[in-house]
Amino acid sequence: MKMKKISLAILSMSLVALIACSQNTNNEPSTIKSKVTTISINSNDDDLWVAPSIDEIKNQELKKQVEYGKELIAHTAKYLGPNGSVAQISNGLNCQNCHLDAGTKAYGNNYGSVASMYPKFRGRSGSVENMTKRINDCFERSLNGTGLDSTSTEMLAIKAYMNYIGSNVPKGTKANGSGFKAIPFMNRPADPAKGKDVYVTQCQSCHQPDGKGLMAEAGNEYIYPPLWGKHSYNDGAGLNRVSNFAKYVKYNMPLGTTYDKPILTDEQAWDVAAFVNSQFRPHIETPNDWPDLTKKPIDAPYGPYADEFSVKQHKYGPYQPIQDARK
Ligand code: HEC
Ligand code: HEC
Repeated sequence: MKMKKISLAILSMSLVALIACSQNTNNEPSTIKSKVTTISINSNDDDLWVAPSIDEIKNQELKKQVEYGKELIAHTAKYLGPNGSVAQISNGLNCQNCHLDAGTKAYGNNYGSVASMYPKFRGRSGSVENMTKRINDCFERSLNGTGLDSTSTEMLAIKAYMNYIGSNVPKGTKANGSGFKAIPFMNRPADPAKGKDVYVTQCQSCHQPDGKGLMAEAGNEYIYPPLWGKHSYNDGAGLNRVSNFAKYVKYNMPLGTTYDKPILTDEQAWDVAAFVNSQFRPHIETPNDWPDLTKKPIDAPYGPYADEFSVKQHKYGPYQPIQDARK
């Protein structure tokens, strides 16, 4: 632990030098072009949430339920995909494809803050949502399917799992490193053409040139999940927002990437997000999303909006002017 603190201190010192340096040589604002905000070492990264081990559960019945919940997150398609053994209610993705390491990876869109923060108000529905509703949201959008019955064995197991892994996070607080790690805005729109080059060199070896991923031989689970096409997440899903995609990819892809050793530059992450999210994917009607338009994320890729900026600018940026206009 001590070692880590010291090296962080040295790192922040050299960061200060770097920042001073880059401010001397160019006077760019705090966007991606300047090195100032590109390197954001969050001091919280020293103390990231770690999920408790399932082996510590004493109650055997609970342990089994939690293990089943984890299995459903990691291998959703085997049970609930197009050829699922329990029901056929989703597109073939696993929850884990986007919630890495069964929702325990730092800045890998993890579930550390689910038990502690739900029920909570969400602007998208304009209502207080419980865990069941939030889980089914991802079934309906990210997995382009239908939700689970709230009393089903599967829903109860998924909730038991999320409650257990979040049991070391105090109620009402967020786990360090849950969700996504932020990246700074660019001062230009994210560019699908540039993103295509990134895709070809960094992504398509796994996700395939046509973006449709690679199915395992048994036909019930992807080895490499699709990024677009009719088996991908639909256009109302969280990942269809360019900022969410960029943050996910920057700190998690190509496969094996961790938040502390990103491979893509911020620009590459934004551009590849623009490329992938400009491809065809299933459509979902969401007439009731964001009843209060002032709560709508600036990069929600579909109208209506509370401002006059175009759909295109909302989708691809530049976002700073939209953000500024909100204040
Ligand atoms: C295609 C990617 C993708 C898949 C697959 C996916 N999710 Fe999500 N999920 C997201 C994104 C992105 C968010 C954050 C959305 C946002 O904040 O706009 C999210 C958020 C959540 C949250 C809320 C987390 C929090 O801290 O508020 C829960 C719970 C959740 N997902 C459950 C699931 C479950 C269960 C499955 C499988 C049935 C699943 N997700 C599959 C992308 C995905
Ligand atoms: C070495 C293979 C590999 C490479 C290269 C790779 N990925 Fe992935 N990607 C995966 C795998 C495997 C998963 C699912 C991870 C899991 O389930 O644990 C995944 C998941 C994803 C997901 C979420 C699931 C989905 O289908 O929507 C996105 C988005 C994604 N990758 C984007 C990218 C992008 C963009 C690149 C290039 C910058 C990239 N990946 C490079 C293997 C790869």
